[in-house]
Amino acid sequence: MSMFKTVIYWHKIFRSAEEPKRRIPLNKGMQITVAGHTVCIAHTSHGLKAISDRCPHNGFSLSKGWCTEDGKGMVCPLHRYAFEFEHGRARSGFAGACLVYPLEERADGLYLGIEKSVLKWFS
Ligand code: FES
Repeated sequence: MSMFKTVIYWHKIFRSAEEPKRRIPLNKGMQITVAGHTVCIAHTSHGLKAISDRCPHNGFSLSKGWCTEDGKGMVCPLHRYAFEFEHGRARSGFAGACLVYPLEERADGLYLGIEKSVLKWFS
């Protein structure tokens, strides 16, 4: 049995879900930094998504890219690998996976969840 469990820490990133939809053009991304994580917030045809900004292929910023045609992934502009919002893996080619983050709309704003492993005794 593991001594660790996974806890999600929620961070408020916008005052509402409408704010990033206004500020980020459809099918584009915006880079934000939350609790030491650099994250690409994407405005897709399926709503807002969050994926780690650093491309696992060669480190470029995914927020400088664009959404795939089906709106389910983010294309890195450097070598055009596409990373799925659902699990963070590349659709093709040899690259590691991005982290994906949950987003939650609450009455007072839009929150991003960051998972952490913590010792069971201290939680
Ligand atoms: S650096 Fe992103 S695809 Fe190569």
